[in-house]
Amino acid sequence: MKFRSMAAALAATVALPATLAQATDLEVTHWWTSGGEAAAVAEFADAFNATGHKWVDGAIAGGGSTARPIMISRITGGDPMGATQFNHGRQAEELVEAGMMRDLTEIAEAENWAEIINPPSLLESCTLDGRIYCVPVNIHSWQWLWLSNKAFADAGVDVPTNWDEFVAAAPALEAAGKIPLAMGQQAWQTAGAFDVLMVTLAGPEIFKKVYDDKDAETAGGPEIARVFQAADDARKMAAESKVQDWNQATNMVITGEAGGQIMGDWAQGEFQVAGQVAGEDYTCLPGLGVNEIISTDGDAFYFPVVDDEEITAAQGDLASVMVAPETQVAFNLKKGSLPIRGDVDLSAANDCMRKGLEILASGNTIVSVNQLLDPDTNTQKEDLFVEFFNDPSITPEEAQERFVSLIENAG
Ligand code: BGC
Repeated sequence: MKFRSMAAALAATVALPATLAQATDLEVTHWWTSGGEAAAVAEFADAFNATGHKWVDGAIAGGGSTARPIMISRITGGDPMGATQFNHGRQAEELVEAGMMRDLTEIAEAENWAEIINPPSLLESCTLDGRIYCVPVNIHSWQWLWLSNKAFADAGVDVPTNWDEFVAAAPALEAAGKIPLAMGQQAWQTAGAFDVLMVTLAGPEIFKKVYDDKDAETAGGPEIARVFQAADDARKMAAESKVQDWNQATNMVITGEAGGQIMGDWAQGEFQVAGQVAGEDYTCLPGLGVNEIISTDGDAFYFPVVDDEEITAAQGDLASVMVAPETQVAFNLKKGSLPIRGDVDLSAANDCMRKGLEILASGNTIVSVNQLLDPDTNTQKEDLFVEFFNDPSITPEEAQERFVSLIENAG
């Protein structure tokens, strides 16, 4: 063997995991199509390709609500991908129950996921009857207000430190020709913003009573009435924000066209791609500056059962790669999310990510709404809030009544 081919063979052996019998193409579906998301998912693809397999990218545009029905119908219709994203929680529950998702318990045990993955709720939401069916890849939290320092400077007011100050600054922003609140019109965004207002303004106890205990009396009570009033402020502040996608709304904050956006920490990826610096160009207020709490939302990968040994082996290799410390750091730094393991080096984290890490360490967390409500109830909730945000003739009181009946019937 010539030196060059020997070196190549050696390099290949080093890169390949012991289990790699065959290099395999694996189609991976997800809804990560914004600039920041694409940069992050490329880290997964590179890490997987380094094992000798090939990541075949199956990005689906339009956000999770568009992507998930497509993913589900491919799996139930007999055309499964090799791996697919879902959010932590109950989105894939029926597929798992129907035996369509691969059992990863052996890999999880061999790699000690139960010890490594933190908080434990992440792996619990992958578990059914003691068996593990998904790999959590990050912790995303929804409860953030992203503010444009430029917009407030242009309007001649201080950058707000909490939700009330933000609402109070709206007239000054408007006078300066700005849209106070940037908000995409898709249903998941308006429903998500309402949930953020609920947990931050009414507090986590009320939030749990409504979504975990499905307590309709609390849903109809004064604390939730106050949240609907805040949602009414939000829709007025967002009335001129005509964009659809969340990242278009983030872009309005990046350019200073809008004052702020309530959005999950995946927005960080967009600020990074735009070269903006937390604290200088933009400000992030976890818990809207009112109640510093984060949810353990996020993404998990599931691997449909397929009758093909090579694909099955490649699925296992991808699961391992996603949990590996180096991949966790590279992916999450770009994604704006927190890693699923505490034993990794995050010295490169920016100010906002550091705040998130501190809140996670303090234990001031709530589980994601996706874990508490079934997909049907979530869809009904999305329908209600997209209507409320787009139709000013629906009063906060009427919307709250509809919300109460939704909670009464929630699954
Ligand atoms: C996912 C994030 C994603 C966001 C916007 C959320 O459901 O958890 O990973 O960035 O949707 O696409």
